[in-house]
Amino acid sequence: MSALLIPKKAFPLEYYPMPSDKKWAVLYATWCGSTRDAALWISEGMDGIANVFDVRENPDLSGYEHIVIGGAIRAGVTSQLLHEYLEKNKDMLKSKIRGYFAVCGNMMQPVGPEQTAAFIENHLARICGVSNVLSKVFLGRITFGLMEPDVRKQMQSFPGMKDYDNLKRPECMAFGKEVLATV
Ligand SMILES: Cc1cc2nc3c(=O)[nH]c(=O)nc-3n(C[C@H](O)[C@H](O)[C@H](O)COP(=O)(O)O)c2cc1C
Repeated sequence: MSALLIPKKAFPLEYYPMPSDKKWAVLYATWCGSTRDAALWISEGMDGIANVFDVRENPDLSGYEHIVIGGAIRAGVTSQLLHEYLEKNKDMLKSKIRGYFAVCGNMMQPVGPEQTAAFIENHLARICGVSNVLSKVFLGRITFGLMEPDVRKQMQSFPGMKDYDNLKRPECMAFGKEVLATV
């Protein structure tokens, strides 16, 4: 009986509410998940037509025509895995990049041109070798319970550091809508 419940082939579950022939993808790198939520909400702003990928899946994005790339910020940069993926797939991605985003803490202060320069213009756009596309830096979250133990200890030792949630779904959705309108 229990054998009947075991599927013959396991498929990765895709969160892809509105399949579309427009072939949009959002690629993200996260440690604690706020950037995953931002990526999903960006897709939701596109009425759900973008497929959303964690860079740890090492996705094959060659079949997509329009790609949005984003990463969480630690120590001023996105993850090493994202750098490696972008370097490795640079030629394939070059003509498809339509937007960048970053998710940061910024000491709970509002973000401005300084963060766009640091995380987008001088970072993601440089790695990809593509600039002049829409970009957005979002404020993210701190959730001590989701951090690696050593990182949690280090973060908790900063005076005034606490759990917070500054990520805003409407901002992410608005960015998705805006990027979609560029094509
Ligand atoms: C170890 C660590 C280092 C961080 N470094 C920075 C930083 O340099 N600049 C910044 O603005 N935010 C920094 N943050 C805040 C994160 O960018 C923020 O929590 C973000 O929401 C994390 O995204 P994630 O949940 O997708 O991993 C740091 C957070 C941690 C845990």
